[in-house]
Amino acid sequence: MDNFVFYSPTCFVFGKDEENHVGAYVRRFGGSRVLIHYGGGSVIRSGLMVRVKRSLAEEGISFVELGGVKPNPRSGLVYQGIELCRKEQVDFVLAVGGGSVIDSAKAIAAGALYEGDFWDHHQGKPITKALPIGTILTIAAAGSEGSPNCVITKEEGMYKRGANSDHLRPAFSILNPALTQTVPPYQIACGITDIMAHLLERYFTTTADVEVTDRLIEGLLLAVIKEAPRVMADPSDYQAQANLMWAGMMAHNNSCGVGRTQDWASHYIEHELSALYDCAHGAGLAVVFPAWMTYTMGHNVSRFAQLAVRVWGCQMDFTHPENTARAGITALKQFWTSLGMPTTFAELGAKPEDIEHMARLACHGDVRKGSLGTFAKLDAEDVAKIYR
Ligand code: NZQ
Ligand code: ZN
Repeated sequence: MDNFVFYSPTCFVFGKDEENHVGAYVRRFGGSRVLIHYGGGSVIRSGLMVRVKRSLAEEGISFVELGGVKPNPRSGLVYQGIELCRKEQVDFVLAVGGGSVIDSAKAIAAGALYEGDFWDHHQGKPITKALPIGTILTIAAAGSEGSPNCVITKEEGMYKRGANSDHLRPAFSILNPALTQTVPPYQIACGITDIMAHLLERYFTTTADVEVTDRLIEGLLLAVIKEAPRVMADPSDYQAQANLMWAGMMAHNNSCGVGRTQDWASHYIEHELSALYDCAHGAGLAVVFPAWMTYTMGHNVSRFAQLAVRVWGCQMDFTHPENTARAGITALKQFWTSLGMPTTFAELGAKPEDIEHMARLACHGDVRKGSLGTFAKLDAEDVAKIYR
């Protein structure tokens, strides 16, 4: 195991009706004038927004609002949010929605206290401060409620880049599984895929002797594989949603990733797809991840075989472990297909003629140095092959 520092200061408030106490949590974490940030309107249609505003009002907290965050959140709205925070002297940003809303809120929170262009943070400039952020999560997926990351699409050029800082970890996150009961089935499936991908990005490591985090990842994968069909069959199943929601947080706040190298090439390869074609991040991962696995399997067949045996219950072939490894990849693909996830480039609306461009952007962009990944180091040519 490698040395690590793990800082995860977020206060998690989990369970039924907890959003009714949001005002008290904003107050506790120093907010008195809030920006409420939300997406395309699901939180208004569900009645959640009324409860949020009532709770803020009860605590005497004033607010301004900015809705309209699109999935794969755009830079344009972040600029608007930053301007609004400055004009209205906002001291707390409250995200009500999914990963896209939370990421947009994080970019605004950091940008409001930064004199330059917020996009600098997405080109490697460290974030040194941010307004405090609170979240009310409405979908189990990206894990942004516990993560230090935010991913934004730059509208000039349509490419996606992340920024990363402990200043972006929410002060509090309210997780009420009942709020996820209105998520459409396709989005639920995309969320499940993303959660599993966050675990797999950490599983494919070059670090030896990481038994605790290996077992945590395998355990979470097993739990998600058990709960996913229940949630898909009946989105009103509170207990299944509760397990999925907490798995989504655990998969990405990095408790399973400490002390080991992590790969993340599949995410970077996917981000070019969701930026360019506006497909859902999880759907893009369902296509990219198995292709990445097949391409890189030779770097450590026994790790793939271990996953296949421990998580998918495959028989170990000691003479030809690559057969076991392949069986595991097939099982993963079949599982995602059973949820209704795509398996091909064409299903994402992606075009073969864009492959070279996306591969170049993925590897070079403005912050990357020509290669992706740590489990297997990939250059633009490898990435193009994976897309193909
Ligand atoms: O916009 P609204 O109307 O709210 O509708 C959303 C959106 O259309 C809908 N939805 C969410 N909760 C709902 C609901 N509809 C009905 N009832 C509810 N309770 O679902 C759609 C998708 O929402 P979105 O926020 O885009 O989903 P998700 O949480 O999967 O976030 C995806 C974004 O997160 C980024 C992705 O790249 C993508 O841009 N990621 C962020 C990460 C992070 N910050 O740590 C890590 C991830 O790897 C990922 O890259
Ligand atoms: Zn993801």
